[in-house]
Amino acid sequence: MSLPPTSTTPISGDPSLSQTTHSSTPDSQPGLYDVIIVGSGAAGLTLALSLPSHVRVAILAKSVLTDASTYYAQGGVAAVLDETDSTDNHIQDTLVAGAGLCHLDAVTFTVEHGGDAVKFLLAQGVRFTLDDDEHLHLTREGGHSHRRIIHAADATGMAISTTLVKRVRECPNVTLLENIAAIDVILTKQATATSRVAGVYALDLTTEDVLTLRAPFVALACGGASKAYLYTSNPDIATGDGIAMAWRAGCRVANLEFNQFHPTCLYHPQARSFLITEAMRGEGAYLRLPDGERFMPRFDERAELAPRDVVARAIDFEMKRLGVRHVWLDITHKPAAFVKDHFPMLYSRLLELGIDITKDMIPVVPAAHYTCGGVIVDEHSATDVPGLYAIGETSFTGLHGANRMASNSLLECFVYGMSAAKHITQQLPLAPPVNDVPLWDDARAQHPDEDVVILQNWDELRHFMWNYVGIVRSTKRLQRALNRIQMLKNEIEEYYTDYLISKNLIELRNLVLVSEMIVRCALLRKESRGLHYTIDFPALNDNPEDSILIPPDFLSQ
Ligand code: FAD
Ligand code: SIN
Repeated sequence: MSLPPTSTTPISGDPSLSQTTHSSTPDSQPGLYDVIIVGSGAAGLTLALSLPSHVRVAILAKSVLTDASTYYAQGGVAAVLDETDSTDNHIQDTLVAGAGLCHLDAVTFTVEHGGDAVKFLLAQGVRFTLDDDEHLHLTREGGHSHRRIIHAADATGMAISTTLVKRVRECPNVTLLENIAAIDVILTKQATATSRVAGVYALDLTTEDVLTLRAPFVALACGGASKAYLYTSNPDIATGDGIAMAWRAGCRVANLEFNQFHPTCLYHPQARSFLITEAMRGEGAYLRLPDGERFMPRFDERAELAPRDVVARAIDFEMKRLGVRHVWLDITHKPAAFVKDHFPMLYSRLLELGIDITKDMIPVVPAAHYTCGGVIVDEHSATDVPGLYAIGETSFTGLHGANRMASNSLLECFVYGMSAAKHITQQLPLAPPVNDVPLWDDARAQHPDEDVVILQNWDELRHFMWNYVGIVRSTKRLQRALNRIQMLKNEIEEYYTDYLISKNLIELRNLVLVSEMIVRCALLRKESRGLHYTIDFPALNDNPEDSILIPPDFLSQ
């Protein structure tokens, strides 16, 4: 059984790139690699393509390789390329959007490596939109003081994902394992302070066998956890697996209360949660109420280009005040040719749904979009556990603070993917052998009720996360959510221990755990900052800190 998706994903992964491939790896011992990368989005593929060609790499993906948030990205990648722009400007804009919680060293590191990221993408052959002078065309998004976003029209992620997947298929040292879901990280036998990574257990979704894959280095590049919410822009793979696996392996996590809600997802019965890129506002679109009022100037002097937390909260406020189900995004005042030229994918997709964006306003609502917190890593993407790395949306580098600025996340995937590759390459000669790993215990039975229980629990979780842990929070609602999470957690753990493992069980177990982390981080924060707004603590604290959870904190509670 597979759970019915509650969000309709806009464009499906490219089928021509979807067959399972085992490349001709110099693989004398099956299942033994130097590096296992869990995830085939921007982060995982960048790491794979940046490792030297003698390194034996396996890439795991839960679905086909292109089925990742990366593929669905529309806006683009932020980098300082305009001569009137500067790294200082980009750093400053990121700090402002991050509302006082960004780590300056991580912001500086990321922004200063933006040029390398662009070079990497161009070298791989990604075709970005050019301007009339054949330079990279730069668009604008919320929070950016300058035009700074390189893009491939309004389907940037598709261009990046399909190009990097093609490249990785050409690498003889890389084994591609599609439709294989990692269950947990394997640690060396002695789970002590000195234990390190030895591989992953993974479920082959075709054969239903559990595989034991060994490697001295594992990188979790599994994307975020926005599927914890009822409405999301994310594909179904975004179930927080990497964050949950890292936590169970002993890693600290931080700032998970900062789940970003994208202000403008399409409100439509046939295409719920289809994203309308912020670049549309960057190119001049207005947000309007049902009576036509352009309301954002009432909330912020930056109007439609205020950071996302501000815009999403303003929309939420107006929807609740007026009792309406959506607001409108309006680009009809721009010439039709301009709109079709800048947003060809959105124009044709929305036309199929009966909305001509050159003439009609677009009904939009906020939806869960990005997990700003994650597994704590250093500049090399290394976690607390030796040999274990976390990259991209799974990780917490300190870049995003309390609110990620648009188009900084793909940038982070490339910069930290490359940085992890350098570090792993240096560490490889020192890595101990991974011969003796514990076997997966498979003495479990099928449970007749499993599907219905999992489906029910999944539905319940996503509803109460939306209602109690959404754009506006209170301590009472967070406590309610936590009580329900405890009940679900107990039920799921019983299933997990006693019955056969399945993809739905793996995902729900992870999503419930990450939801608990989101709520616990939210309860730690006694202020409203960036994406976390609570009616009980509406003011800012003078000395803000990260919300850090350490594994023994609540595993046994
Ligand atoms: P993903 O691209 O999500 O890849 C995750 C991978 O992990 C997948 O291959 C998945 O199969 C695999 N995986 C997960 N769990 C398991 C498991 N248990 N076992 C095996 N494999 C697993 N950011 C920008 O900077 N610019 C944009 O314009 C932009 N637009 C966006 C538009 C949309 C609609 C969305 C959803 C996001 C957008 N973002 C954008 C955010 C950005 O796309 C993501 O943060 C980024 O792509 C994440 O990349 P990633 O490699 O970390 O994860
Ligand atoms: C968008 O195109 O609006 C998404 C950009 C992002 O999430 O960075």
